[in-house]
Amino acid sequence: MTAPVRVGLVGAGPWARMVHAPLLAAGPETELAGVWSRTADHAESLAAEHGVTPYPSFDALLDDVEAVALAVVPAAQPDLAVRAAQAGKAVLLEKPLGLDVTGARRIADAVAEHGVGSLMLLTYRFADVVREFLADVDTMTPTGARACFISGAFLGGAFAGGWRLEHGALLDVGPHILDLVETALGPVVEIQGHGDPRQWVGLLVTHESGALSEVTLSCASAIEPSRTEVEVYGRDRSCFVDARSGARAASFARVRAEFAAVARSGDPHPCDASRGLAIQELVARAERALVK
Ligand SMILES: NC(=O)c1ccc[n+]([C@@H]2O[C@H](COP(=O)([O-])OP(=O)(O)OC[C@H]3O[C@@H](n4cnc5c(N)ncnc54)[C@H](OP(=O)(O)O)[C@@H]3O)[C@@H](O)[C@H]2O)c1
Repeated sequence: MTAPVRVGLVGAGPWARMVHAPLLAAGPETELAGVWSRTADHAESLAAEHGVTPYPSFDALLDDVEAVALAVVPAAQPDLAVRAAQAGKAVLLEKPLGLDVTGARRIADAVAEHGVGSLMLLTYRFADVVREFLADVDTMTPTGARACFISGAFLGGAFAGGWRLEHGALLDVGPHILDLVETALGPVVEIQGHGDPRQWVGLLVTHESGALSEVTLSCASAIEPSRTEVEVYGRDRSCFVDARSGARAASFARVRAEFAAVARSGDPHPCDASRGLAIQELVARAERALVK
């Protein structure tokens, strides 16, 4: 059997605790080597939970691992990811890649220049129901779509603070839903929109094929459970996916297996850093559409 990929986790916030650490520690394709976070106490407590090393510095982590998983604020991800790529380490990246296209491009360029494997944790893209839905859409001729990401995440709980409340839903969950819509209907040529990302946003999206989609985003709506849905319509048939229903343990196990594979091969992946850059460009276009 191949030895597991030895991964160092960077960040010890809610998402690192809930997803990255248990996912990487569970194996068999990866091994959680240890944790570094900006605040030493945070790294120490998360490392202790998993019985792994709390690294004193990012450089110490880089020296000891084959790959790096980043679960930090978007403002911090570009510098750390570029340093990891320069050190020849594969990177498991979070969405959004950065606060803006410049940050995202730095990551995509470093990954390409140093030939390291990369995977962006676009949660829904690893779910069976979503992969089946996208394969189904591939066999039809879509004329239009409706998609939404609606949650109450900004109203309270682990994700109600910091950069999310400052920048809003477009930067936080826009990468998920814009990625799904573009993957389903093809390249986006135009985005119009209205609203406030801290409250409610509606986007009118035109695809290269001529298909049109309407995308709704809000993380400040009292709804439980939250919704991540895409419906695609054509003249012959239509299809629908409740993407949230598929984001379960099995999809995170697939993240681990596919990350380990790209970490070893350096091969491209549909959710790699270059895709992350393209998604960040879509987010930026949507942001511009709101201020017109
Ligand atoms: N894929 C998904 O479905 C999904 C879901 C949820 C979150 N996420 C992503 O996961 C990432 C982490 O999210 P989160 O919810 O855990 O909380 P967060 O507030 O976005 O990030 C918290 C982490 O960022 C670190 N950090 C903050 N400023 C830093 C800086 N200047 N330099 C280095 N590190 C810094 C913190 O370190 P200290 O606390 O140690 O200071 C902490 O570990 C985000 O990018 C988020 O978008 C993805």
